[in-house]
Amino acid sequence: MSEKLRILTGDRPTGKLHLGNFVGTLANRVKLQDEYDCFFLVADLHMLTTRTELERLQQTGENIREVVLDNLSVGIDPDRSTYMLQSLVPAIAEIQLIFSMLVTVPRLQRVPTLKEVMQDLEIEQPSVGLLSYPVLQAADILCVRANLVPVGKDQASHLEVTREVARRFNHLYGEVLPEPDTLIGEVPTLVGTDGQAKMSKSLDNAIYLSDDPKTVEQKVRGMYTDPNRVRADIPGRVEGNPVFIYHDAFNPNVDEVNDLKERYLQGKVGDVEVKKKLAAAINAFLEPIRERRAMFERTSRVVEEILIAGSERGQREAAETLRMMKDAMGLRFISQQ
Ligand code: TRP
Repeated sequence: MSEKLRILTGDRPTGKLHLGNFVGTLANRVKLQDEYDCFFLVADLHMLTTRTELERLQQTGENIREVVLDNLSVGIDPDRSTYMLQSLVPAIAEIQLIFSMLVTVPRLQRVPTLKEVMQDLEIEQPSVGLLSYPVLQAADILCVRANLVPVGKDQASHLEVTREVARRFNHLYGEVLPEPDTLIGEVPTLVGTDGQAKMSKSLDNAIYLSDDPKTVEQKVRGMYTDPNRVRADIPGRVEGNPVFIYHDAFNPNVDEVNDLKERYLQGKVGDVEVKKKLAAAINAFLEPIRERRAMFERTSRVVEEILIAGSERGQREAAETLRMMKDAMGLRFISQQ
């Protein structure tokens, strides 16, 4: 068994991942694979917290496939990292049950993402499941006794609950669980192509990892830039301008980017050129990702097999965690069974 520290991170299977997900968390996942023992969880049970209608759930299979393919395509290597499907690791649910005794209802009501989700989806009263979303997430993370969790900035408040649960458990029953650290991506939140604060599927302002070159060109052509710059010879704003934020994030040719910025500030370059070069840079960035995706798509049942094998390992680890927890809690009659 490896002595490496552990990482666990996850995505809800709500559809394809985009460039914002990449800079927010995927990039970190890829980088940390060698140094850490990495677990990647597809949180299909978490999806139930906001989607319960049968028609929506029937899309889950396809969404699970997409999210796994997205992770495989950016280079989360199934030979080094463990892919698991939450619903195939039943010990997570049992751990959540125990954790749910260690967190109060008002504490969960204060988690800022709860209010946001309720507002966005016009939910008047949260279900018990939605309220305890962060408790389930704590069970995901702690079931494999993870030490580090790379996530987007929006998840920081959930990680705080995870740490509190671990601390509370250890305080009551002895040191069993690690208190995991959070790792936020380098570009914590990527603006949308429309200039809105966040790239997101629901705002329809995203460039997906699986977009083909033509789609990328078209989306970049339609990107929001400096609205005051109605002609190419008017000096423009670089700071906070989505086109340049993307250039900085995805164009490795620093000289080209600096030259464009300089000319933009002076009113000596048109949006067309800036965008053409940006589309080319994003397409170059996405090319190896597309190739890897195509490679995995060629083998049938590859996603299923990766998830089944990884979930078996996840379940073994989670069962071990549960045994340690129950031993510490004096639930020996149960743990001996
Ligand atoms: N809540 C995360 C999100 O919406 C997904 C998630 C579920 C997760 N379980 C996790 C992330 C465990 C990190 C660790 O993005």
